[in-house]
Amino acid sequence: MKILAIESSCDETSAAVVENGTKIISNVFASSVELHQKSGGVIPEIAAREQLKCIIPVIKEAFVPFDAMAVTVGPGLIGPVLIGVETAKTLAFAWNKPIVPINHLVAHLYANWLSGQVPEFPAICLVVSGGHTELVLMTDHGKMKYLGGTRDDAAGEAFDKTARMLGLAPYFGGPAIAAAAKNVANVKKFLPRPMIGSNDLDFSFSGLKTAVLREVQKPHFAKASRGELAYEIQEAITDVLVAKVIKATKIYNPKSILLAGGVSANQRLREKLKDKIEKEKLVIKLFVPEPKLCTDNAAYIASCAFFNYHPKPWQKINANPGLGIV
Ligand code: KG4
Ligand code: ZN
Repeated sequence: MKILAIESSCDETSAAVVENGTKIISNVFASSVELHQKSGGVIPEIAAREQLKCIIPVIKEAFVPFDAMAVTVGPGLIGPVLIGVETAKTLAFAWNKPIVPINHLVAHLYANWLSGQVPEFPAICLVVSGGHTELVLMTDHGKMKYLGGTRDDAAGEAFDKTARMLGLAPYFGGPAIAAAAKNVANVKKFLPRPMIGSNDLDFSFSGLKTAVLREVQKPHFAKASRGELAYEIQEAITDVLVAKVIKATKIYNPKSILLAGGVSANQRLREKLKDKIEKEKLVIKLFVPEPKLCTDNAAYIASCAFFNYHPKPWQKINANPGLGIV
């Protein structure tokens, strides 16, 4: 079965056709990231206007004959989500095809089914993106138990905001922090690891942002210390993410760990989690999507729709920007 999916929840407009949930036939995207770099963050109205401009050309380019459609209904920015949802509904009606509404956060995890492997359940899943940090236990397709999440900022937001404080990248700071940290070594721990030892599976990153701001405001802060600070930011965020995934793994004894979301493209996170699993001698398989499938794209929306195939009449599909992962 071939599914044509549309993703428009934030600053990427994407359409893809995926066969049987695992084989990408086409995956096209247009991004408004460059526009948001000028403003230092996503302006919802600008993102929505770009979605409107790009959506039809992107769908045209991704188009091959298909059997069903899928669309992200939330969570996301209301304007951008609405454009994808209304376009998809109109096309499903015009082409007389079934359409499946998809939760963007759950769908991120399906990037792991697009890498030629089949994760086994139960799985501990960490979705880390610009807007979300969610830890869930997945016992089957469509069966999720919420374990924990951020109490304030998402991990991606911590990367983005601190990168801006360091003058590294006005928007989409994760890769900029990773690049600045690359050849730095022997840095003593000086930033907090918020909630690393807490008795739950929650996260908090806003205090880390404040700690970085204090460092940047110190009179001796100079360009020379920027690399060290970037290094410590990456270490602090990934230390906490790894600790909570390992804690959840020890409690629930799953067969797999799945990472997903933009921050899961971070090489240091991948390498630290792999090392920790080996060090703790945990019998578990770690799945991480190809870096280009970690950030927002429609291929994983199509894959999620295949494994959770519950089409609805187009009249009953509505944008739901505040949707949670469970
Ligand atoms: O999943 P995504 O594309 O969009 C949302 O649904 O939010 O994630 C975007 C986030 C941004 O915060 C970006 O800075 C972060 O993912 N990101 C990274 C890396 N690549 C993207 N963070 C750390 N390291 C990276 N290599
Ligand atoms: Zn996303």
